[in-house]
Amino acid sequence: MGGAPDHGQLSHGLVRAPRGPDPALRPHPARRGGRGTGPVTAAADLAGRLTVVSGAGGGIGAGLAREAVSRGMKVLALDVDAARLAALAGSLPRDAVRTAVVDVADAEAVAAAASEATAAWGPAALICCNAGIEFAGRTWDMTPDQWRRLQGINVDGAFHLLHAFLPATIADGRPGHVLVTSSVGGLSSGAG
Ligand SMILES: NC(=O)c1ccc[n+]([C@@H]2O[C@H](COP(=O)([O-])OP(=O)(O)OC[C@H]3O[C@@H](n4cnc5c(N)ncnc54)[C@H](O)[C@@H]3O)[C@@H](O)[C@H]2O)c1
Repeated sequence: MGGAPDHGQLSHGLVRAPRGPDPALRPHPARRGGRGTGPVTAAADLAGRLTVVSGAGGGIGAGLAREAVSRGMKVLALDVDAARLAALAGSLPRDAVRTAVVDVADAEAVAAAASEATAAWGPAALICCNAGIEFAGRTWDMTPDQWRRLQGINVDGAFHLLHAFLPATIADGRPGHVLVTSSVGGLSSGAG
C-alpha cells in the first residue's frame, strides 16, 4: 500500500523546489546589493579565451562572433548551415575561428564540439546561446512535431550548450559569461 506520496520527489531523479526561500537559489555574491554591482570582465581578460556562438551563421550570431574576434577571443562557431559558417570563417582570421556544423538540439554533437574546442583553446569565457527558429503562425496551428522541434532548438539547445561548456568554465575559476539571445516576444505577448 505504501504511505502518502512524497510530493517533493518527481520522476527522473528531479525534485520539486522547496516552498519559501531556497538557500540554493540565493543571489550570487556578485549580485548582492542590486543590479550592476557584480564584477565586470575587462576585454583584456577575455583575449585569447574561447567563446562559443550557436547560430553563428545568422545575422546576430555572426555579429557576436566578429565582435569576439575583434576583442582577441577565439571563436567556436556552430550552425546547421555549412555555407553560412564557411562565409563567416572566410571573413575572419584563420587562427581565430573554428566552425562545426552542429544541430544544437543534438546534445551529443554539441558535447563533441565542446570537447574539441576546449581541448584546443581551454574553457569557454563566453557562451552565446543564440541559435533559434520561429514559427510563423499561431501556436495552436503547429503540429506536435513542429512544437517539439522548436523547443528542441530554442530551449533544449541553450541547455545543451550550458551542459557541455559551463562546468569547465566554472572549474576554471576565471570570470565567465553566458549570453542567451531572446526576443521582445519574451517580454510582451500577442494573440497566438
Ligand atoms: N533578428 C530578429 O529580429 C530577432 C527577433 C527575435 C528573436 N531573434 C532570435 O535571435 C537569434 C538570432 O537571430 P538572427 O536574426 O541572427 O536569426 P538568423 O535566422 O539570421 O540566424 C539564426 C541562425 O541559427 C541557425 N540555426 C537554426 N537552427 C539551428 C540549429 N538547430 N542548430 C544550430 N544552428 C541553427 C540558422 O542556420 C541561422 O544561421 C535567434 O534565436 C532568433 O530567434 C531574432
